[in-house]
Amino acid sequence: MIFETHAHYDDEKFAEDREEVLADLPKRGICPVINVGASIESTKTTLEIAERHDFVYAAVGVHPSDIDGLNEETFAWLAEQTKHQKTVAVGEIGLDYYWDKEADVQKQQRYWFRRQLELAREKELPVIIHSRDAAEDTMDILQELHKQGLNNPGVIHCYSYSPEMAHEFIKMGYYIGVGGVVTFKNAKKLVRTVEEIPMERILLETDCPYMAPVPNRGKRNSSLYLPEVVKTIAEIKGISCEEVVAVTESNAMKVLNLI
Ligand code: NI
Repeated sequence: MIFETHAHYDDEKFAEDREEVLADLPKRGICPVINVGASIESTKTTLEIAERHDFVYAAVGVHPSDIDGLNEETFAWLAEQTKHQKTVAVGEIGLDYYWDKEADVQKQQRYWFRRQLELAREKELPVIIHSRDAAEDTMDILQELHKQGLNNPGVIHCYSYSPEMAHEFIKMGYYIGVGGVVTFKNAKKLVRTVEEIPMERILLETDCPYMAPVPNRGKRNSSLYLPEVVKTIAEIKGISCEEVVAVTESNAMKVLNLI
């Protein structure tokens, strides 16, 4: 089965047909699914979906562009949700300097990134990291935490940096999340990364409803398009699709402690 490590089925783009789409996934070879929180509100809706569906697990966390919703009170609530029986990770958390260019806002992002990383360490949960246009600061913060003993770290989701940097993340124990972008014509850097890193470090993900792979680029994405990502990785690596599915599944089980 294809292990989907990053989806947002609580997104409003699934408002009309959410339950149908979800019910269809295991029948079509997609199972399990990690639904990822990105704000306080979407952490709530993520947990609701995980409660309704056996094969859906939850990541709880606040995305760097949604840190407005964080204060001591909501952070304490978030910390409580790490104990929920369907919670398998803290995420998505990180830095996004593409959308937020103000120094002050970026400082706030770093503050809440650290707090959520520390929460994950305390609860011994892996992290799902969103990092865009913030390679250096992400690396610095993770190396700092790594030195302080952040083990079983997690995944750099929707990986967009250089192959060289991927090796650095992998050295610290991270996995690299690969989704629809790898099928895009202009994805040379990501293709090179996939070429260079070991299969044992790759996780499959969609980030749906966003990032639909070719030939559905621009449409609403769903985990049903993951076979296109599998096919592309198989071509790059010169191995079979079955092997891509099997290795990424075992990687995901390992990092998310689902064995
Ligand atoms: Ni996401």
